[in-house]
Amino acid sequence: MENEPLIAAFQAVGQGQVFAHWATLSGTERAGLLAQAAEIDLTELARLNDTLVVRTSAPAVVDWSKLAPAPCVPLPAAGGEAGTWAEAEALGMAALRQGRVAAFTVAGGQGTRLGFPGPKGTFPVSPLKQKTLFQIFAEKIKAAGLRAGRPLHWFIMTSHANHEETEHFFVTNKYFGLDVSRVHFFRQGRMPAVDFNGKLLLETPATLALSPDGHGGSLRALHRSGALDLMQAEGIDTISYFQVDNPLVRCLDAAFIGFHLRARSEMSSKMVRKAYAEEKVGHFCQQAGQVVVIEYSDMPLAMQRELEIDGTLRFGAGSIAIHLIDREFARRMAAGGPGVALPFHRAEKKIATIDAQGQPVQPSKANGVKFELFVFDALPFARNSIVIETARADDFSPVKNAEGLDSPQSSRADQLRQYARWLQSVGVVMATDPTGLPQLSIEISPLFGDDATSFAERWRALPVKPAIVDGLYLA
Ligand code: UD1
Repeated sequence: MENEPLIAAFQAVGQGQVFAHWATLSGTERAGLLAQAAEIDLTELARLNDTLVVRTSAPAVVDWSKLAPAPCVPLPAAGGEAGTWAEAEALGMAALRQGRVAAFTVAGGQGTRLGFPGPKGTFPVSPLKQKTLFQIFAEKIKAAGLRAGRPLHWFIMTSHANHEETEHFFVTNKYFGLDVSRVHFFRQGRMPAVDFNGKLLLETPATLALSPDGHGGSLRALHRSGALDLMQAEGIDTISYFQVDNPLVRCLDAAFIGFHLRARSEMSSKMVRKAYAEEKVGHFCQQAGQVVVIEYSDMPLAMQRELEIDGTLRFGAGSIAIHLIDREFARRMAAGGPGVALPFHRAEKKIATIDAQGQPVQPSKANGVKFELFVFDALPFARNSIVIETARADDFSPVKNAEGLDSPQSSRADQLRQYARWLQSVGVVMATDPTGLPQLSIEISPLFGDDATSFAERWRALPVKPAIVDGLYLA
């Protein structure tokens, strides 16, 4: 054991406990543990322990007195210029026709809050057909490709824990009719977890407790996996980033793409007006001339509640985690270098581990720290970053919790409300409650229409209009 330089290196920095059960391990187990240990950058770990774990009073990175709301491009309905939006849409549509844009879903999260054991993308969410999140995205991407006159690429970031299951799900479902050669999966990276003293935790006597490195790990995973090179070879220069939890997302939104390209932005974002001051979303702010996102958990409540003269929230631009990322910007961020690295965040979690005898321990409260990267921390490094407004009802209704807010029930209701609005906009009389929720259970496939315009076109072209009854499915 002493002859193994890696073990000696761990012992030298006080992390020798990783090899506490070495004597009981088989040859294969020893090799596996050494391979995991080799993944760990001990210098980086020491820095993270110092700044995020042991010394909890890390230097403040935000000067609250200088923080301002980020400028946003308003929707036409909120005072934006309809002509500019139409131009942006045309520009974005042209980029889609040229095949310059790929969809990108981050699906490496563990979905703990939802309490669903499988990959979150395999969770059924649509009101009638119980389509999964992945199927809904697949159909939206297919619809966008049909409109663009060419099939578009879709990149999906998985984690070590859900990679095989995710790929298998697509195979079983025949890629939901997408061109197999245009759907690409790759795994995100992992980070070790530590206890509150900064000691690396073991998951079993022969394995470290490793966890996904956060959605910000997507930039380096895009690079490491060869996805950026593939994009370059395919003529893709713009990545349309969205989370796996949001069935309403417009996966490839032409107007958003147009604004992003016109501004020559390296990373752009969509925002919705916060529904109420304490809503748990990130806030788009401006700091030293750059766009930044400040998480709800980091911004003082008094600031979250600050009002403008007109009574609207001052920091009212909420992040819905939808971005456009320039391919070469992703490459630059992935390469890192002095002053361009994403910072790690501390997340206190319940981490499955073992005791001194090697027996499993399932903690009932947080017993350690995981380190995560956030993709929006790349914003301040991006040139010409812009934020555009989007209508919440048409872009955002995530499934995060098992019940209540942002749950399967609330998202189902929002999908039904969207169908009702589209039908009402073409003159169909449809009873709804005061929130716009119809009493009927219906569903509109993204392949019939994936926004109000495409829906209306298709509806008007129907020679015979269907009766609006419970169970109606438009496909
Ligand atoms: C996130 C944002 C928040 C935003 C909100 C909108 C953070 C810290 N906060 O909150 O600003 O307002 O979404 O819905 O992100 N993921 C990975 N790998 C990981 C971790 C996460 O791929 O290692 C993916 C998940 O699969 C999911 C997404 O990232 O698609 C969001 O992760 P989650 O941790 O659920 O973010 P929220 O706390 O909900």
